[in-house]
Amino acid sequence: MTDHDMTRAAFRTSLLEENEGDGHNETANPTMGEIIASRFSRRDFLRGSLATAAIAATVSPLALATAGDARAETAGTASDASRFTFTEVEAGIDANHHVAAGYDADVLLRWGDALFPDSPAFDPTRQSAESQARQFGYNNDYVGYIPIDGSSEHGLLVVNHEYTNEHLMFPGIVSVVDKPDEKDPAKMVKALEIAPADKARVDIEMAAHGGTVVEIRKEGGKWAVVRDGAKNRRITSTTEMQLSGPAAGDARLQTVADPSGRKVFGTINNCAGGVTPWGTYVMAEENIHGYFMGTLPEGHKEAENYKRLGIPEGTYAWGQFHDRFDLAKEPNEPNRFGWIVEVDVEDPNSIPKKRTALGRFKHEGADSIVSKDGHVVFYLGDDERFDYVYKFVTAGTFDPNDRAANLDLLDEGTLYVAKFSEDGTIAWMPLTHGQGELTAANGFASQADVLIETRRAADLLGATKMDRPEDIAPNGVNGRVYVMLTNNSKRKETDAANPRAKNAFGHIIEIAEADGDFAATTGRWEVLLKCGDPSVAEVGASFSTETTKNGWFGMPDNCAVDTDGRLWVSTDGNSPKATGRTDGLFAVDTEGAARATSKLFFRVPVGAEMCGPLMLPDMATFFVAVQHPGDGGEDWEGFGRPSYYEDLSTRWPDFKPDMPVRPSVVAITKAGGGKIASS
Ligand code: FEO
Ligand code: CA
Ligand code: CA
Ligand code: CA
Repeated sequence: MTDHDMTRAAFRTSLLEENEGDGHNETANPTMGEIIASRFSRRDFLRGSLATAAIAATVSPLALATAGDARAETAGTASDASRFTFTEVEAGIDANHHVAAGYDADVLLRWGDALFPDSPAFDPTRQSAESQARQFGYNNDYVGYIPIDGSSEHGLLVVNHEYTNEHLMFPGIVSVVDKPDEKDPAKMVKALEIAPADKARVDIEMAAHGGTVVEIRKEGGKWAVVRDGAKNRRITSTTEMQLSGPAAGDARLQTVADPSGRKVFGTINNCAGGVTPWGTYVMAEENIHGYFMGTLPEGHKEAENYKRLGIPEGTYAWGQFHDRFDLAKEPNEPNRFGWIVEVDVEDPNSIPKKRTALGRFKHEGADSIVSKDGHVVFYLGDDERFDYVYKFVTAGTFDPNDRAANLDLLDEGTLYVAKFSEDGTIAWMPLTHGQGELTAANGFASQADVLIETRRAADLLGATKMDRPEDIAPNGVNGRVYVMLTNNSKRKETDAANPRAKNAFGHIIEIAEADGDFAATTGRWEVLLKCGDPSVAEVGASFSTETTKNGWFGMPDNCAVDTDGRLWVSTDGNSPKATGRTDGLFAVDTEGAARATSKLFFRVPVGAEMCGPLMLPDMATFFVAVQHPGDGGEDWEGFGRPSYYEDLSTRWPDFKPDMPVRPSVVAITKAGGGKIASS
């Protein structure tokens, strides 16, 4: 979701306002005060401000520590050169997308596209919930791929639909008004006002959320949707789901409509996600607070729990028409959201399961990897200012030859939260009932309580307050883990892992788990990259000196590791005002002297954010998701006013006067075929 400081229309109480707002972590966890480990600050300072080859060649301690293994795996590339071979895109902003020369970027799936033989044709002027539930949803975010027969040319694409932008989706609901500028009230600015929602609109919104599972096939080098695919499926905010794992059935999950505490309808705000080693699709529930409204009954026991998550925010009007989103009517319903949802894509009628063992917070993503001894490790970010980095390790082990035996692995295991120490070590602290502070004396009567209030449990363990943890990607080739920290302009006190006050542009941390074991409870870490314009010394960015004026970025958000173990980062919040460029997909070197070199591979149209980066195993296709294109345009000289359905800053990707802008998944291939960004 876009950073509201940068591009949002004035009317919009962005869900991210909570993430971008004052934050909810009011605990006094020990931070590391003013101390900035000198090994980081000195190197980063030098890199950011001087362009001397000798300094650019500095290799980090972590890189040296495991250089041997990494080199062996990346044979064929010179250790001092970028491992990405493509001609960089020029950074900038306009109404279209741009991909590196020699590549094709083909739109595969647009909001409203048919997913089934009986899907109604998309007509934005006559949309209905029934139509929307048979069409591709709005604001595509996570993109995953589950191969059919091991193929990189035929498989199931799984896509999250994070949220809806009513002003871009619906005709006739926006008026343009003059309003005092938020920062300079003496100045009047144009703002958008949206007409109150009716039930029909709310139901379309609910059907546009959730996820898509759709068969796709590549023929003659081009991808197409298989509309009669037997496993095609839409998941929405009304799909029946089951709560499973340690918190299932707990009294705190019981509602008037569901006294069992095990049956819930729908999933919301599905941001990033993952595909498990056993081929299921996991969807993260992130900014759930915006969907709830109303007031808890006086003295209700969930008050503190909800406050920690910013519930209710009331961005959406769903609670006016559906009791479960109104706290006065269903005070426990918010406890049934904020989980990781697992979908068995092999059966289109399977009931998705909310896996409570992985905790409840503003889940960003859930990338996983099998550890040395067969346990499966999920890396989990909680995207809010001053919230935490987590991982979950399954109790059972993965059996590649027995899919059925893997299907409930996510119901049992240990959830850990990270403490980053200034000496470069990391400790993964278990969130286990009865251990340490997690006892009845502190209000945790059971593991269910620990999981329902994961944030409060992590507060008590003294976890490190981070600068908005987004996507986290384990890299099976070099044994590291990459953590995207998008920004935190409210940070006053710095620590080694969050080294910049008023961190406007974010950073990336690299973790090396002990003995290369992803299930380890200790490890080492360091800052891979501090983002922002490296030509402005005060920003303190630390891109390598090989990074061009096009290659740097701010606000890392989603990320992906390709088959060769190379890191790709997509961004959320670059704009004319913030960084003079749109969001995009960046290739980031992690090895040798090229470490921290970034190159721009693809950029989005005005107003959009870049999501879902996914390289297929054969490295011949890269899928990206263009989210909320056309959301904004005030700060772009090519438009200069708020953007809405009738007056859009872009009509990407169709560019037809009667068709609104449409969030879409794009397939990038090399012209003529071949491995992407490889020579
Ligand atoms: Fe959905 Fe944290 O962005
Ligand atoms: Ca995002
Ligand atoms: Ca990812
Ligand atoms: Ca983001």
